[in-house]
Amino acid sequence: MSRYTITAALPYTNGPVHIGHLAGVYVPADIYARFLRQKGNDVAFVCGSDEHGVPITLKAKKEGITPQEVVDKYHAIIKKSFQDFGITFDNYSRTSAPIHHETASEFFKELYENGKFIEKVDEQLYDAEADQFLADRFVIGTCPKCGNEESYGDQCENCGTSHNGTDLINPKSAITGNVPSLKQTKHWFLPLDKYEPWLREWIVEGHKNDWKSNVLGQVKSWLDDGLRPRAVTRDLDWGIPVPLEGGEGKVLYVWFDAPIGYISSTKEWATETGKDWELYWKDKGTKLVHFIGKDNIVFHCIIFPAMLKAQGEYILPENVPANEFLNLEGAKISTSKNWAVWLHEYLEDFPEKQDVLRYALTANAPETKDNDFTWKDFQTRNNSELVAIFGNFINRVVVLTNKYYNGQVPVAGDFSQVDEETLEKLKEYPGIITNSVERYRFREATSELMNVARLGNKYLADEEPWKQIKGNPERVQTIMNVAVQIATALSVLSEPFLPFTSTKLKGILNIGLSEVENSWEDVASKRVLLPSGHQIGKAELLFAKIEDAEIQVQLDKLEATKLANENASKVIEPQKEIIEFEDFTKLDIRIGTILEAEKVPKTKKLLKLKVDVGIDTRTIVSGIAESFKPADIIGQQVSILVNLAPRKIRGVESQGMILMTDTTDGKLAFVAPEREVKNGESVS
Ligand code: 2FM
Ligand code: ZN
Repeated sequence: MSRYTITAALPYTNGPVHIGHLAGVYVPADIYARFLRQKGNDVAFVCGSDEHGVPITLKAKKEGITPQEVVDKYHAIIKKSFQDFGITFDNYSRTSAPIHHETASEFFKELYENGKFIEKVDEQLYDAEADQFLADRFVIGTCPKCGNEESYGDQCENCGTSHNGTDLINPKSAITGNVPSLKQTKHWFLPLDKYEPWLREWIVEGHKNDWKSNVLGQVKSWLDDGLRPRAVTRDLDWGIPVPLEGGEGKVLYVWFDAPIGYISSTKEWATETGKDWELYWKDKGTKLVHFIGKDNIVFHCIIFPAMLKAQGEYILPENVPANEFLNLEGAKISTSKNWAVWLHEYLEDFPEKQDVLRYALTANAPETKDNDFTWKDFQTRNNSELVAIFGNFINRVVVLTNKYYNGQVPVAGDFSQVDEETLEKLKEYPGIITNSVERYRFREATSELMNVARLGNKYLADEEPWKQIKGNPERVQTIMNVAVQIATALSVLSEPFLPFTSTKLKGILNIGLSEVENSWEDVASKRVLLPSGHQIGKAELLFAKIEDAEIQVQLDKLEATKLANENASKVIEPQKEIIEFEDFTKLDIRIGTILEAEKVPKTKKLLKLKVDVGIDTRTIVSGIAESFKPADIIGQQVSILVNLAPRKIRGVESQGMILMTDTTDGKLAFVAPEREVKNGESVS
């Protein structure tokens, strides 16, 4: 048994959490924590809301509320989403908590008193109009390393590099859009350059064989570029005040305080549970593992370790298994563009399908490269794997055991060679899955878990108990006994990955009564996991098929978001050249009523309309078929340019033009009178 401190990146409290968060950080961290606990380890799995930093201030400005109101709102939503998805944090704290302010202030003061900082007055970016220094995300410009034109002042999200605001090329204020000036201000810097040789030895040399290559690659590249002193304070008013004389009006850099949040969350938990928090952060026997996304690598592999090293008493991470990014239907997930599947919305549409999302995200996790989440893949993972393999196997076992033996596990007779081989293979899985989880290969682990269900399905399909029940009932007893053992193994091994399913399955199998609760070691060593005579419950569906229509609803939602974004970014065309009133009077625009409408064959966009324009009833061909169904527009009053020269469109003569405009959802709308008007009235 070992002691583990497992941390999951503290999410910024400027919006709800989405599938990218879940796939990149929280599901793998939760699988790992559940797995370790199941194996009897002492685990502190901590997280909390990251409530400081510019993203919060920007959101508050945008919504016209205070930063405190922003964090209160999203802390509650985020915390609930994690609970709903079965993320088993031992503690979920927040960086606005007094214990965190104290812990971070103390940490800062200690480093200051021990001479670990450089105090320096230098020039920082300043927005004179906003009367504000442009820290971090308050400034946007071109990344000096990769050329991304939308890099933030402290970090480029494209290449992950962390830099100083003054490094940006063509910086612009995110508040006013102005080009910033430079203004002198005092700050405290952590001299990262001094830690460079040590970091190289500890990570690049020391962990070259056990850290992920994406993490090692980034770390090496930054070390090769050379580290520079890094300011750990900011001229901002939202954050933890700098606890020094001369620090008035300044706060700690959010990336200085946030990782200390792991420590304060552990302290909070220890206080509530009577534990000693220091064992989890200072005892050399404790293994510290940080679960993060790739944009956080620099902070967890360079800056936070340098802070811990500077303090001197803390342990360092044993591993930082950072994931790459998850995209959504081919585009980068974006909170501001609403291009995301929000966890709280997912649960409204798919209640009680937490495990389906956990499974789909793990099976397709961005472990070694960016990956794409598609609703189609989600549906296939559910229908072809969870329903057709896992659910199908369990269902057959439970239904047949009830049918043949009234739900009592039958006594096994002599095992055939196939039985022996199947049971031996089953025993190998705890080891196989452990091997994957211990190397942070959760995709692989999930696929091996599914192989246990495949083993069961194959066994039943080969042995065909339903065919043998008449002629060879004794053999069927053995077959069903073996199948029940596989189902029981699944209930144990699936717990870290599919916790809701595992609980449900244990309920169906009537496990949980302590005499039949099995461990991973039991699955690896015992032949009998559920004894003969044990009474199991009735069959219940573990997974239900997801229909195309349900997927279409999600795709439609995304399509609407895409259109709204396109519309929001649409540039309003400049005014055309001035015309004289006489020019305008040449246009004869009338109100008319649509009498008939039908699609023009073999076209996508065209409708052929019969319109009463007051003067006469005429045919008009209009490109509105993607916005309206013919039946819905009969009787609609519209504005028509009636003296436009007739022209043939797809063989039909069009005698006028209906006036239309674009709506914010990307569809077309009629320019129509607000109240009923006599057909033929002029528009002037
Ligand atoms: O990227 C983020 O969402 C940050 N809020 C992560 C912070 S992790 C930590 F160190 F607290
Ligand atoms: Zn960059």
